[in-house]
Amino acid sequence: MKCAVIYYSLSGNTAKTAKAVQKRFGADMFFIEPEKAYGAFIPSVARVVKEKLTKKEPALKTEPANFSAYDIVFVGFPVWAGTVPQFMQNYLKACDLSGKRVIPFATARGSGKDSSLKTVKALLPESSVTDYLFTSMVEKPDVAAWLDKIAK
Ligand SMILES: Cc1cc2nc3c(=O)[nH]c(=O)nc-3n(C[C@H](O)[C@H](O)[C@H](O)COP(=O)(O)O)c2cc1C
Repeated sequence: MKCAVIYYSLSGNTAKTAKAVQKRFGADMFFIEPEKAYGAFIPSVARVVKEKLTKKEPALKTEPANFSAYDIVFVGFPVWAGTVPQFMQNYLKACDLSGKRVIPFATARGSGKDSSLKTVKALLPESSVTDYLFTSMVEKPDVAAWLDKIAK
C-alpha cells in the first residue's frame, strides 16, 4: 500500500501525527508551505483574520505534486479559523486526487472538527474521504488504533 502524507504544521502538533503515519506506512511526505511563512501564534492569528476579511489568499511556495502512484493520500492540517488553512485548501484544489482514498487528520485547540471535514469533502468531491482523525485539547484519539484500522 503506497501512501503519501500531505501536511502542514506550524507548532508541531500535526507533524507528530504525520510522522506516526510515515513510520507506520513508510509514507512519502509532502510538507506544504505558504510563500510567506507564518510566525508566532498571535501574529499568525491576526494575519489569518486579516486574510479572511480582505479575502486575500496567501500564495503557495510548494508546487502541486503528482499523486497518481499512491493508494492512500493522508491530508493533515491544524484547524485555522474553524477550518482548513486557506493555502492548504488551495494546494488540495491544485492537485488531482480524484479516485483516491483520502484520509484527513486535523489538530485543533477545540473547534472546527465537523467544518474541517466538510471543507475537505467539498474540495475533493471525486475522492473517497474516510477515517477522519481529529485531535484537540479534549479529544485525544488513539493514533496507533487509527493506523491499525487503516492497515487492515
Ligand atoms: C492562525 C491560527 C488559527 C487557529 N484557529 C483555531 C481555531 O479556529 N480553532 C481551534 O480549535 N484552534 C485553532 N488554532 C489552534 C491550532 O489549530 C492548534 O494549536 C493546532 O494543534 C496546531 O497544530 P500545529 O502544531 O500542527 O501547527 C489556531 C492556531 C493558529 C496559529
